[in-house]
Amino acid sequence: MTSLKGRDFLSILDFSVSELEAVFSLARDLKRKQRAGEAHPLCAGKTLAMIFQKPSTRTRVSFEAGMFQLGGHALYLNAADLQLGRGETVADTARVLSRYVDGIMIRTFKQSDVEELAAHAEVPVINGLTDWEHPCQILADFLTILEHKGRLAGLKLAYVGDGNNVAHSLLLGGARLGMRVAVSSPRGYEPAPDLVSRAAAEAVRTGGAVELTTDPAAAVRDADVVVTDTWASMGRESEHSARVKAFAPYQVNEALVAHARPDYIFMHCLPAHRGEEVVDAVMDGPRSVIWDEAENRLHVQKALLALVL
Ligand code: CP
Ligand code: NVA
Repeated sequence: MTSLKGRDFLSILDFSVSELEAVFSLARDLKRKQRAGEAHPLCAGKTLAMIFQKPSTRTRVSFEAGMFQLGGHALYLNAADLQLGRGETVADTARVLSRYVDGIMIRTFKQSDVEELAAHAEVPVINGLTDWEHPCQILADFLTILEHKGRLAGLKLAYVGDGNNVAHSLLLGGARLGMRVAVSSPRGYEPAPDLVSRAAAEAVRTGGAVELTTDPAAAVRDADVVVTDTWASMGRESEHSARVKAFAPYQVNEALVAHARPDYIFMHCLPAHRGEEVVDAVMDGPRSVIWDEAENRLHVQKALLALVL
């Protein structure tokens, strides 16, 4: 088995292609075991600290249930209730938690805070979402695509909407795995240019491609996978009304997905804002795999935990 023991997972690019494949392979094995009711105590006696500076349904529950199923324990730590909320530094928090637990998962705003935590922690640190990336989500997305399409390399993935954390991780991860990633966002809401350059450089090595366009139909044309996400991410709630106006032409509706391949799949990390970035007919339609995608958070994160802890 590929050893990832002791490794941090701060960005989807932290793992090579073969390391990502090891995660997917173990995730499939653990999914089967979980469904068959076979015990798989790969993290027996281990504890995961989970720091949350933003709300969560899927990330919290899938990590907590996942650790339990692996024979370990997870601690939910609301950042506001930690001394972090009263000014204890990220570095000192990392040093102290490392003396108690075997791994730390954190959901926060700044990617640099996650990097600082990892720099001072003696245990693996996992990025549970920052404003910059959402790598655990993208592991689940790729496992879901593998289940439904049987491969990743060579597929066209169209992301329509905000050039946010999810778009960033899809760009980097898709490029690393040889996918053609097309992102369509309104002007002013594109993914970060330096990240797009990084993804493009990666795609050159892997035979993938990265395309940016303001035309959502062009992005979705002949796509195998269509993805969107909320128009106003956590922390951007005050921009909601301005964003609803700017993003209106980028709604994933039946007219837009008519440009995709007939056997396309629709994905969304959730939570969805029905009637904004996506309509019910697509979310609840026959091409939607959103519930598999949400379930797969559990299986890929269990694999990740088993490999790094
Ligand atoms: N997709 C996702 O990360 O969901 P939560 O915000 O509910 O954790
Ligand atoms: N882009 C969204 C993802 C939520 C899981 C956000 O950051 O709020």
